[in-house]
Amino acid sequence: MCLFACAGQICRDRSGDSSRARSHPAFRILISINSSANWVRWIICPRTLCALRLSKCLQISRSATKTGSRLEWSPFCFHSALNLAQLAFGLVRHLAYWPAGARRMHSTLDARDLARLSPTAMVRRHAAQMVAAAAGRPILDIACGGGRNAVLVAYLGGSVICVDNDLSRLVAQFTRLKDTVFAEACSRITPLALDLIRDEWPFQAQSAGGILNIHFLRAALFPVFASSTARGGCLLLETVQNRGENYLTLPKQGALRSALEPSFALDIYSERRCGPDGHDSVSVQLFGPRR
Ligand SMILES: C[S@@+](CC[C@H](N)C(=O)[O-])C[C@H]1O[C@@H](n2cnc3c(N)ncnc32)[C@H](O)[C@@H]1O
Repeated sequence: MCLFACAGQICRDRSGDSSRARSHPAFRILISINSSANWVRWIICPRTLCALRLSKCLQISRSATKTGSRLEWSPFCFHSALNLAQLAFGLVRHLAYWPAGARRMHSTLDARDLARLSPTAMVRRHAAQMVAAAAGRPILDIACGGGRNAVLVAYLGGSVICVDNDLSRLVAQFTRLKDTVFAEACSRITPLALDLIRDEWPFQAQSAGGILNIHFLRAALFPVFASSTARGGCLLLETVQNRGENYLTLPKQGALRSALEPSFALDIYSERRCGPDGHDSVSVQLFGPRR
């Protein structure tokens, strides 16, 4: 009600003078409600379902800010109200469905524990969802390195098979974590020595509850990722970042999307351009369930 009252006031005040309308305090309040609601919604909405609508809102609010045109007030105000409604709905859903793993992470892990492990930001964000989607099946950490990501997934209740051709870092990690909150999680991790380029892929069709594939990109493995992941199990993939000459080995724009989208519903797919001008290499982060 309040929002619509403000909106009406703004529209009346405009009377052809857009700069006056833009500087009206009610309009400023609407802008700030609109953008904070958007940001909070980004954080709390599972799988950021509202992404499309959100970008539309931002577009409208940005152009309303710029032009102050009469035609744009009404959708802008409508979207502000819609944002607030969605925010409230998102909060209720979030509290009702927040997986037990996520609750555990936030209630028992402090920043020091996480810093000790240093899983990637994407893994922190989606580990609990991966565990829930795995429904008891093992999650494969493909090229696990020291297991920084696998340990968090295991801590949140997942069982993880850590695959690498050099397991020495994983073993050292287990020793390091022996007297920490992660000690029990390590017992839910199964190390598997495998050369992911030369050896035969050992996992049965639909046997995995999800796949972590961080900083080890082999497109040749995508077909077995798809066949081994059970329906609903999530793939979380991150390429290396844009550092040094990484751009020489990073994929071309759109390449990972077109390779993986037929098998995985990519709820999150982000690319960052890498390298000097003229190279269309990108670093990629993606996440989504098996179709
Ligand atoms: C950059 S590390 C990434 C480790 C881990 N995913 C992480 O995010 O911390 C790359 C890993 O790939 C492993 N690796 C390289 N070539 C491999 C191969 N042919 N088969 C299996 N693992 C391999 C390395 O041993 C190393 O642990």
